[in-house]
Amino acid sequence: KAPLTVGIAGLGTVGSGTLRALAANAEALALRCGRPIRVVAVSARDRGKDRGLDLSGCRWLDDPLALAADPEVEVVVELIGGSDGPAKALVEAALQAGKPVVTANKALLAHHGTALAQLAEAKGVGLCYEAAVAGGIPVIGLLRDGLAGNRVQRVAGILNGTCNYILTTMRESGREFADVLAEAQALGYAEADPSFDIDGVDAAHKLAILTALAFGCAVDFEAVRVEGIRDIAALDIGFAEELGLRIKLLGVATAEAEGVAQRVEPVMVPLGNPLAAVEGVFNAVLAKGDFVGTIMAEGAGAGERPTASAVVADLAAIARGYRRPVFGVPAAALTRARPVPAEGQ
Ligand code: NDP
Ligand code: HSE
Repeated sequence: KAPLTVGIAGLGTVGSGTLRALAANAEALALRCGRPIRVVAVSARDRGKDRGLDLSGCRWLDDPLALAADPEVEVVVELIGGSDGPAKALVEAALQAGKPVVTANKALLAHHGTALAQLAEAKGVGLCYEAAVAGGIPVIGLLRDGLAGNRVQRVAGILNGTCNYILTTMRESGREFADVLAEAQALGYAEADPSFDIDGVDAAHKLAILTALAFGCAVDFEAVRVEGIRDIAALDIGFAEELGLRIKLLGVATAEAEGVAQRVEPVMVPLGNPLAAVEGVFNAVLAKGDFVGTIMAEGAGAGERPTASAVVADLAAIARGYRRPVFGVPAAALTRARPVPAEGQ
């Protein structure tokens, strides 16, 4: 069968990992999808950068937007990042051109998710974003498909790998915040602007996406109450441990009488709670449904290989011809319900 032809914009941590995963598991993917997945064009800022990748089989485009218009590209993968600028322009242009899009960009979806979902559904193409929340954990599919038979009452989790890595490493080694943050950046976990991680903004982007999926309401990042971990010292972490508590940055969305309350904040989790045992770059997502009860998914929440795993899963779904509403219910219906601000806002 003819290959699914892909254009990738962004060849950093996630883009490089995606190319490596597609190459490493090409045969198994072709078998699972019934057709090969082939990257035919790529784009990034610096053509001369040594990325340790074999790009001989694909064309280089200086302008990422050109991927949307390229007749050889069937699916556009956006791995540039940022809520606006070239990432947004590319995703919009690709959807307008009737091409399915895969993105790992939670900032883009948190700010423009509802409008992009409406555009994708109007054009009858997929907008897939498994990598945007919780890295390698397939939590988008879990909420959208796996829990479709439930009324979800609560979604909660550790949604930022950088923060969890910092909190864990500070506790284990007594090292200082700035030192461990620099290490998380070197490992490819942090956002281009790491204040998004440590100030809770990245976790809030992800929570806004999970809220839309879980509760069927519009993506509303502005309604998330956000506090990060910037001011937490090794001393605070040690003191909490003495009390049988572990500090975790949690995102929590709960169904309230008037809507959905969303908050991201550092929480003292009792050591016996399963979330306390989620360490390092791992994330975890807990969901409570009226029929399934409470479930928890755990795994690597950031980094090249786990995130690539999620991007490739989306490509496989497109190759297999799956198409679902972007946030689980038709996007036109999402706009009718808006999450209410959390108490105190
Ligand atoms: P990187 O900073 O490592 O890579 C970004 C890539 O985009 C680079 O290849 C860069 O080019 C390219 N780029 C930047 N600006 C432009 C531009 N104006 N035009 C063309 N290309 C451009 O980011 P990540 O790979 O870490 O992240 C990519 C996306 O994935 C983001 O949305 C991020 O939030 C998300 N994500 C990241 C995870 C992670 O663990 N890192 C996990 C889950 C999601 P060049 O290389 O030439 O500089
Ligand atoms: N910076 C993000 C994190 C990347 O640390 O969780 C994964 O979304």
